[in-house]
Amino acid sequence: MAQTVRGFRDIMEPDAAAFAELEARCRALFRLYGYGEIRLPTVEQRELFVKSTGDTTDIVEKEMYAFEDAGGRMLALRPEGTPGVARAYIENGLPAKDLRQKLFYIGSMFRAERPQAGRYREFEQIGAEYIGNPDPSADAETMVLLAALLKSAGVKEIRLEINSIGCPQCRPAYKQALLDYLKANLDSLCDNCKKRVERNPLRALDCKTDGPKLAAGAPPMKYCPDCDAHFAQVREHLKNAPLAFNVNPNLVRGLDYYTRTVFEFRAAGIGSQDAIAAGGRYDTLIKSMGGPDVAAVGWAMGADRVLAAAASGERAAPKPEVFVAAADKTAAPKAFQILQFLRGEGLRADAAAFSQSLKSQMRAANKSGARFAAIIGEREAAEGTVTLKDLAPGGQEKTVSPREAADLARRQLQDGLKAS
Ligand code: HAM
Repeated sequence: MAQTVRGFRDIMEPDAAAFAELEARCRALFRLYGYGEIRLPTVEQRELFVKSTGDTTDIVEKEMYAFEDAGGRMLALRPEGTPGVARAYIENGLPAKDLRQKLFYIGSMFRAERPQAGRYREFEQIGAEYIGNPDPSADAETMVLLAALLKSAGVKEIRLEINSIGCPQCRPAYKQALLDYLKANLDSLCDNCKKRVERNPLRALDCKTDGPKLAAGAPPMKYCPDCDAHFAQVREHLKNAPLAFNVNPNLVRGLDYYTRTVFEFRAAGIGSQDAIAAGGRYDTLIKSMGGPDVAAVGWAMGADRVLAAAASGERAAPKPEVFVAAADKTAAPKAFQILQFLRGEGLRADAAAFSQSLKSQMRAANKSGARFAAIIGEREAAEGTVTLKDLAPGGQEKTVSPREAADLARRQLQDGLKAS
């Protein structure tokens, strides 16, 4: 029997509807904050991620779905959206129109990580990139927007952790101090960190095994005056928003392009994969890719994890509101017409096979959870009417025109909503 590939999965109702709703909420809020959508290709040159995400990162080193196509090109399924947005910004000549661009994207990302609850090989990211605003208020604004989105999605308990990892001026000295410290403690490092300590010492602080024990003794970051002021202002803006945060000096993030502010949102009650969204500033990436010298800041949320954190109780699959049944074969054309009419009226309408007996169609109507059945028999077909039957216990039935039936159903459904 055919099966899905390990780490990949089907998303069925009611979860599929929950994804669609989350996306719709995000789209609405993005518009409010002035973001436009960008639909990125799923496949990019492998080199794009090697150069931007970074060749010493887990994502590029171990997790990327990279392959050679028939034309001998080295390609990759995108593991994240930021490099694609930066490429698109440059390639489509956006800087000539306006250096400042606010772009959001929604789509699948691919990482060959070890699958577990909340960690998938194909997962959905909803991301935002604010290009062209170097001001600390842009960092704060992106975090405030993210918090608003998470709240609107129904995530109740969030924890925001922030840090600054400095800039190309102040980071080299910090890296060296950290490297000296790690070398002095080499014996206590895990095999992975031992291997990459020279290439990317910051990663040791991010390591699940070594990070916590290294944290206490690690040398503190010494910022240059500009980075210091920037970080202080970000904190100030967050306090004024107000948006609660916690400064975590060990938050370094596993991607290479970050400068200055980095942040992570964590949620309660979803197990170990509790990072539901993360991001940071990347002021040097676009220039390093051949674009203008322009600052940027952004984030991506893991939609799968956000929905897990937002789930309160069972999600209900959407039910039809009216189920249309034809009492016999001659009524089928009319029943089909009424089915379309009801949908045109904005009612969720459905039907089974009109060729089945009325009894089986009514069984299907009850099974579907619909509140009403709209029955069309010989008489109704001749008169152009429909018998609307309330399927709730003790419900009445009435033979009326299709328009009256739609109005009646709508009114009672609304009354039911008000009563509940
Ligand atoms: P990231 O931290 O690698 O950052 O991923 C962002 C979010 O994607 C994570 O916080 C998590 O919720 C979700 N995520 C990552 N991997 C998985 C997985 N295997 N399964 C389920 N969810 C996952 C980035 O991707 C950056 N591009 C964010 C950014 C945008 N920075 C600046 N702009």
